[in-house]
Amino acid sequence: MKDAAELPITPDFDTWPVTHDAVSVAPERGALRITWSDDQVSLHHPLLLAENDPSPRVLHPLSRETVLNPVDFAPDLQVAAAKILPNGAICVRWSHGDTTSTFHPGWLRGHAYFGEMPETPKPILWTAEEQPGPPTFHGPAALDDPKVMLAWLCALRDYGVARLENLPDQDGLLVEIAQRIGTIRGTNFGPTYTLEIKDDPDSNAYTANSLPQHIDLPTRECPPGLQFLYCRTNTTTGGEGLYVDAYRVAKDMRREEPAHFRALCEIPWTYNNRAKTNSYKASGPVVELDADDQITSVRYNTWLRSPFVGPIEEQDRAYRAYRAFAARAQHDRYLMKIVYRRGDLLGFDNRRALHGRNGYDAKGGSRYIEGLYSDRDDLYSAIRTLQRQIG
Ligand SMILES: [Fe+2]
Repeated sequence: MKDAAELPITPDFDTWPVTHDAVSVAPERGALRITWSDDQVSLHHPLLLAENDPSPRVLHPLSRETVLNPVDFAPDLQVAAAKILPNGAICVRWSHGDTTSTFHPGWLRGHAYFGEMPETPKPILWTAEEQPGPPTFHGPAALDDPKVMLAWLCALRDYGVARLENLPDQDGLLVEIAQRIGTIRGTNFGPTYTLEIKDDPDSNAYTANSLPQHIDLPTRECPPGLQFLYCRTNTTTGGEGLYVDAYRVAKDMRREEPAHFRALCEIPWTYNNRAKTNSYKASGPVVELDADDQITSVRYNTWLRSPFVGPIEEQDRAYRAYRAFAARAQHDRYLMKIVYRRGDLLGFDNRRALHGRNGYDAKGGSRYIEGLYSDRDDLYSAIRTLQRQIG
């Protein structure tokens, strides 16, 4: 391998180890063709190369964002010639103008297409038997050691629920941890909230009642992707958290109750909150699929639904499917029971891991749980940044 220190910058702040050298390069139908040291061959589109040219005429050297836009490049721009420099960088001469561009070989290799899309982490779906408790990590170790922090965050990404334990009881700690990961998403409940009994509750969460499984804030155009609960004390009896992998529920329904599954994917429900001083309202199907038919999000909350307006046959279909989903969501087969212990911090994906709780006896002790919301983007960004740091 060549000396990476001499290589051109890349249009990002990631690290691109040179795992393979380019052994030959040449233009091919206007693109750049690279043969690598492992005999793999990749083609790189001229416009992709042109707009990612790391020279200051294209890339701002501080922001590392391109300063040009698609119309600034000739539509028929081609790679006219290419060569490998002594340091391993790849230099391209263009069909238009008298300019060349030089690229980092690790970055080129990292964006090469070899006939298959790169593997991305897939959610690990679970039932109660498969995952009786959340993946759990030592809290103080996670705060000290980026590798433990990364392991916790990856578990949260993959399982949709993951816990830190043995954290100290400390004012501001929940916010500090959330801000280490990313940003806090404030809501009408404030930047943070405390799960306690209120005299005039604006949510069932602020009572001692049991709560069926649900996501929070289905009343938002995009409900928060993350929620964190930090238990500072709990000497009450009852009140266990009841968590369900809604992706697993939906996957099972897809196979075992396909008509209901389709109704869950196709029919939007509207949700609205019941507060006296604000009025949030949003609609969406219970199960959201992406272009590849993969489940990406769930919008399910039995007590925040608005009355359904639509043809009676559609209402019938929607109600039957919702009931079928509810029956599974509260079935023991799917219920992960979590006792909130002092010093626990539970993170969960609010659009995947349904949460609920058993009722508790408020007179039999004290219970003080702080919570806040954030988003999946913050989690994924923190994972990538830690991976960049750890290498
Ligand atoms: Fe909730």
